[in-house]
Amino acid sequence: MKKVITYGTYDLLHHGHLNLLKNAKALGDYLIVGVTSDSFDMERGKLNVHHNVLKRVQAIKDTGLADEIIIEDYIGQKIHDIQRFHVDIFAIGSDWEGHFDYLNEFCQVIYLPRTEGVSSTMIRDESQIIFKMGIIGSGRIAHRFVPEAAFVNGVEVISVFNPDVLQAKDFKECYQLKSYHQDFDDFTQEIDAVYIASPHISHYDYIKRSLLAGKHVLCEIPLTLKKQEAEEVYKLAQEKELVLLEASKTAFCPAFLHLISLVKSGVIGEIVDVQASLSKLQDKTLREFDPNQAGGSVTELAPLPLLVILKILGKDIKSMHFYSVIANGIDTFTKGLFAFEHSIATITLGLGVKTEGNLVISGTKGYVYVPAPWWKTDFFELRFEDQNLNRKFFYPYAGEGLRYEIQEFFSMIVDKSTISFKLKPDESILIAEIIENFRAGEHVNIISRS
Ligand code: CTP
Repeated sequence: MKKVITYGTYDLLHHGHLNLLKNAKALGDYLIVGVTSDSFDMERGKLNVHHNVLKRVQAIKDTGLADEIIIEDYIGQKIHDIQRFHVDIFAIGSDWEGHFDYLNEFCQVIYLPRTEGVSSTMIRDESQIIFKMGIIGSGRIAHRFVPEAAFVNGVEVISVFNPDVLQAKDFKECYQLKSYHQDFDDFTQEIDAVYIASPHISHYDYIKRSLLAGKHVLCEIPLTLKKQEAEEVYKLAQEKELVLLEASKTAFCPAFLHLISLVKSGVIGEIVDVQASLSKLQDKTLREFDPNQAGGSVTELAPLPLLVILKILGKDIKSMHFYSVIANGIDTFTKGLFAFEHSIATITLGLGVKTEGNLVISGTKGYVYVPAPWWKTDFFELRFEDQNLNRKFFYPYAGEGLRYEIQEFFSMIVDKSTISFKLKPDESILIAEIIENFRAGEHVNIISRS
C-alpha cells in the first residue's frame, strides 16, 4: 500500500484545498492529512485563522478524501510522522517548492500544482469587516501598539486622541494615521473601538466615556484603581453589549496559556506556593514616580503578578499583607503576601529597585520555573525531584507581544462575546480591589520612608 501524507491549516476550506487533496490522494492508496493545531498556528505567527482545529478537521472529514487525519502540533513533526506512519510520499502545494526538499531523506517529496486565484487569506480578507481603532493617549505604550496592531487582520488604527493636541498631532504624523483629536466626541465618531493608553488615573473616566459612546474598549493595566469603578465599567459594557478587556498582555500569549493549563491539569501536583517578581529601573521624572498620578510599584507593576496568582490559586484570598519601602511619596519596593486556604503567594515589585524577575510555582510533585522576564513568557521548565523528568517548553513571543491581546480583543468583537476566559471580568475587578486596598494603606507595613 502506498501512503501519502500532506499538511495544512485548511481554514475556510476552498476549492484550492480540494484540488490539492484530490491530487494528493491520486498519488497513492492511503491519504493522511495533517491539520495544524490552533496553538501551532499561533506559534507560527498565523493569528488570523477563522476556524478552530475542530471545525477544520471536520471540514477535511466531510470531503471524504482523507483516510486518516492527524494534528500537526510542532516544528519537526513531519519527519516523525513520515517515519511512524511509514509514509511513501509527502505531497504539498507548489507554493512550498523547494521548502521541504529535506524530507527526501525520509520519503519521496512531490510538489503539486497550486490552484491559482484562491487562498484562505483571500477569503478572509474579502469577508473581513475592518474595525477602526482609535488610541487614547500617545505615550510610550501607545507607540508600541500601532506597529503591533498591523499584525492583526481586520484592525486598523486610524486616529489618536490626546488633550495635548500637539502630542496628538505628532503621534498622528509619526504613524501616518487618518486623524488626531483634542475633542473626545469628534474622536469617537469615526471609530469602532478604543485602546486606552493614557495615565492610570484617567482610565476609569475614559472607559466610561468610550462605552457610553458605544465603543469597544481595550484598556491598559491597571484597568481602574478601585473595585467599584471596575465593577461599574464591566456592568456598563454588559448592558451596552460591548467588549471591555484589560490589556494584561501576558494573559494572552501562547506560552502563558499553556503554562496555566499544564499547572491546572496537575503536572506539578497540588500548588503550595506562587512567587512572582517584577522590577524596573526608570527615569525618576516619569509619571510612574509621581504620587499625584498614582505612581508606585504596586499600581505600575502588580497587575501582571496578580494575574498569575489569580489564574493559578483562584480568587478566594484569605488574607493579604504588604511590606513597602516608600520614597518621595510612592512605594519604590513592595512585597505582598497572599494567603489562600492551602497555599501562599508572594509578589515582589520594584520601581527604582532592581531584582530578579522570575516566576516560581511550587507543587507537591514538582515546580515550574519561568526565568526573567517571566511576563514575556517564551520559555518555562517543569522541574522534578528526579531531574530526568524535567521538561523545557519553548514558544515564540512575537514582537512586543501586544498582538496577542489585540487579536483576542478583535476576536471577541467578531464573535460577540463579552467575556474572555483568558482574563475574566471578576479577575480584573479583584486586581483593582487589591490595588485599592493597598493604596488605602490596608494591611500595609511601611518598612522605611524617605
Ligand atoms: N493550496 C493549493 N492551492 C491554493 C491554496 C492552497 O494547492 N490555492 C494547498 C497548499 O499548497 C497546501 C494546502 O493547500 O498544500 C493547505 O494550504 P493552506 O496553507 O492551509 O491554505 P492557504 O489557502 O494557502 O492558506 P493561507 O492563505 O492561510 O496561507
